[in-house]
Amino acid sequence: MKAIQCHHYGLPETLVLEETKVPSIETNEVLIQVKACGVNFPDVLIIQNKYQFKPTLPFSPGGEVSGVIAQAGENVKHLKKGDNVVALCGWGGFAEYVAVKSTRVFKMPEGMDFTHAACTLYTYGTSYHALKDRATLNPGETLLVLGAAGGVGLAAVELGKVMGATVIAAASADDKLIVCKEKGADYLINYSTEDLRARLKEITNDKGVDVVYDPIGGPLAEQALRSVSWKGRYLVVGFASGVIPSFPANLPLLKGASIVGVFWGSFAEREPKQSAQNFTDLVAWIKEGKIQQHIDKIYTLEESPQALQDLIDRKVKGKAVVNVTA
Ligand SMILES: NC(=O)c1ccc[n+]([C@@H]2O[C@H](COP(=O)([O-])OP(=O)(O)OC[C@H]3O[C@@H](n4cnc5c(N)ncnc54)[C@H](OP(=O)(O)O)[C@@H]3O)[C@@H](O)[C@H]2O)c1
Repeated sequence: MKAIQCHHYGLPETLVLEETKVPSIETNEVLIQVKACGVNFPDVLIIQNKYQFKPTLPFSPGGEVSGVIAQAGENVKHLKKGDNVVALCGWGGFAEYVAVKSTRVFKMPEGMDFTHAACTLYTYGTSYHALKDRATLNPGETLLVLGAAGGVGLAAVELGKVMGATVIAAASADDKLIVCKEKGADYLINYSTEDLRARLKEITNDKGVDVVYDPIGGPLAEQALRSVSWKGRYLVVGFASGVIPSFPANLPLLKGASIVGVFWGSFAEREPKQSAQNFTDLVAWIKEGKIQQHIDKIYTLEESPQALQDLIDRKVKGKAVVNVTA
C-alpha cells in the first residue's frame, strides 16, 4: 500500500511517500481502507517527537480517518467488513490502510460524506466537551474564542452559538475572521492589529467575558484571563503558539474565577458514557444542519506533508483534509 512515512523526526519536508506492507490486525482491531484523513495539530507535533504519544519509527502520521472496514478481528462485535466508519487512530492515517483498536472506531453518521467525516469528530468532540462539561457554558453568557479560525477554535465558535452564547471570535487575520463571522460569531477581534483587553472591555461594557476558550497559549493567555468576568472560566485547551503560559495566582482569586483543564482524549476513555452522549448530541446537530465543518482545502496523499506545513504556517482556516483515494 501507499503511505506517507516518518523515518526521522523533523519538519513535514522530511516525510516520504513509499510502498509499505498493509498492517496486520490483532483480534480486537479492525483494518480500515482509508478514504480521507483529517489534519490536526498533534500530527505536526508527533513527526517532530514533541507529542505525548511516541510511535515506533517508521510510522505514518494522521490521527483521524474515515473509511471502510476491510477486515474485522474475531473479537470485534459491533463492526463488520464493509461498514463505513470514522476512527481516532492516533497515527497511521496518511496511508491506504490503517489498523485500529475497535473501541476507537465508530459507525459513520448517515448522510455524511467521507471528507467531512474525517475531520469532524476530533474538533467538535474537543470543543463540545470543553464548553459543556468543563465550562458549563450557559445560554446568554459571553464566550471568547482565541485562535477562532483554527480547527478546534472554529468548532468552538459554532458550538458556542448553538449553545446560546454571545461569541467573540479572536484571530490573527481579517480573512480568518470572515470565516468566523460566517459561522455566527457576534464580535470579531484581530489580535495582530487590535488591543485584545481594550476591545473586550468595550464589547462587554467592562463586565468581562464569562468563558475563555484558549487553544494557543503564549502571551495572549494572560490578557484573556485578566479579561474574565466574576466567576469566569478560562479553558486551557492547547498551546499551538508553542508557549505554555504561567499565571499569577491572584488573578483567579480576584474574580472568583476558575482555570479549567481540557483533555478530550482522556475524557473519552475515562467517561465513555458521557462521551457517547456528546457524540449523539453532535450527530443530531449535524443532521439538523446546525453545525458543519468548514473545509479549507483538500490535499492528495502525496501532498499531505504540505497540509502539515500549511498548518504550521497558520494558513488553514477550519480544516485541512487529505483525500487518500484521490
Ligand atoms: N485539550 C485537548 O483535548 C485538545 C484536543 C484537540 C486539540 N488540542 C490542541 O489545540 C490546539 C489547536 O489545535 P488545532 O488542531 O485546532 O490547530 P490549528 O487548526 O492549527 O489551529 C491553531 C490556531 O492557533 C493559532 N496559532 C497561534 N500561534 C500559532 C503558531 N505558532 N503555530 C500555529 N498556530 C498558531 C492560529 O490562529 P491565528 O493565526 O489566528 O492566531 C491557528 O489557527 C493544539 O495545541 C492542539 O494540540 C487540544
